[in-house]
Amino acid sequence: MRTVLHDIEIKNLIRQADEAKYRAYVPYSHFRVGACLKSASGAYYLGANIENMSYGVTNCAERTALFRAVFEGERRFEALAVISDSPNYTLPCGACRQALSEFCDADMPVICANRSGGYEVFAFSELLPHAFSPRDMEID
Ligand code: THU
Repeated sequence: MRTVLHDIEIKNLIRQADEAKYRAYVPYSHFRVGACLKSASGAYYLGANIENMSYGVTNCAERTALFRAVFEGERRFEALAVISDSPNYTLPCGACRQALSEFCDADMPVICANRSGGYEVFAFSELLPHAFSPRDMEID
């Protein structure tokens, strides 16, 4: 069952993700991404992408937000919003989907926004179906 998010809360999450976008460190791609992750306790954790001259070491906006939240003791999340300067909806990359799957339920809404504030909402399980889970590590 998908968690119901009211329009006003969706817009609030997108606005905060958009503000986070301006804190991106993107000297290589010049592509700013912002994320806003809402915890089950009701707190908001913001993140932006942080690039590195060794490109593969770059940290995406979503993982910046997730790691900030987990470091603060959060373990359960209600919603995630992602935005960039693209006219297209910004979706979390595969690495971020895997990182999020450690803490996010299948029905957590992921709000993927475009630069104009338009958005599409996905259930987390739509983005990472058949995720690798602790059950997959059972060996006997
Ligand atoms: N990026 C994110 O921050 N989140 C995503 O979901 C996709 C990609 C960043 C990484 C890099 O700094 C830039 O966007 C271009 O890939």
